[in-house]
Amino acid sequence: MDIRNSSRPSTTAEVSAPGPSGPGLPGPGLPGPDAAKKPVGRIRIPHLQQAKADGRRFAMLTAYEQYSAEIFDQAGIEVLLVGDSASNNVFGNGNSLPVTVDELLPLCRSVARSAQRALVVADLPFGSYEVSVQQAVATGIRFLKEGLAHAVKIEGGSFYAETVRAMVQAGIPVMAHIGFTPQSEHALGGYRVQGRGDDAQRLIEDAVALAEAGAFAVLMEMVPASTAAAVDAAVPVPTIGIGAGNAPTGQVLVWPDMAGLRGGKMAKFVKKYADLRTSLSEAAKAYGEQVRSGQFPGPEHSF
Ligand code: KIV
Repeated sequence: MDIRNSSRPSTTAEVSAPGPSGPGLPGPGLPGPDAAKKPVGRIRIPHLQQAKADGRRFAMLTAYEQYSAEIFDQAGIEVLLVGDSASNNVFGNGNSLPVTVDELLPLCRSVARSAQRALVVADLPFGSYEVSVQQAVATGIRFLKEGLAHAVKIEGGSFYAETVRAMVQAGIPVMAHIGFTPQSEHALGGYRVQGRGDDAQRLIEDAVALAEAGAFAVLMEMVPASTAAAVDAAVPVPTIGIGAGNAPTGQVLVWPDMAGLRGGKMAKFVKKYADLRTSLSEAAKAYGEQVRSGQFPGPEHSF
């Protein structure tokens, strides 16, 4: 579906984002997936901001390497997130906490080199930005310089407003991540929905503080739909939801969940659009059987 025709509830946002500003740039606003077949310009932050102003939506997926990045980019996904979820989707950890900057940087480079059109956002992993504003700026610079990312994402509420301000001043675009923040899994007492009831106000204040500090978007994870809608209405920047209902301008999913590559129980907010786990398993079984039976390689695969 062409996102240009995808209507969403209009917001109260007053955003003046620049239109397309050069030859080949997509516009006006975000181009649809069909446009991805032609050479088009890079999706940039003003396109996402314009989408909110126009009441249009965009899609974001995680990507951790070349092929998924190429495929999602060519499918017209507007934003690719080199998530710290690589920790438990690439490196075999149980959660996002153990992954390091040095592990994520090569994945980020691979995604950034493989995506011609999508905006590439890198997660700053746990421990790489919390210690000081200086540490956050230094790590952000590494992801733009060595990881070739176009922007970074950090987790946390209004406490990080000063950090965001310093990063933005240093030329590092920052996406804020509020609500359930997986890096704080232990501090939050596990995977729990955030911003229920009176707690909604806290999330609104977090989002407003982070947007005022210069965050170009606010991602909300596991937040009631009504709270997410209130947050979206309170900030001029686009919001992005994962388990946050349908009001945000963008939606994000972790790609091995979206495509059914990961096994096991899925969170309520995950929709599986394919069953890659079964497809790959069947392909591997067929290959193994044909090798064992001597059917592969046949004459057509031999020199
Ligand atoms: O790392 C990640 O995959 C994320 C998503 C949950 C948004 O941060």
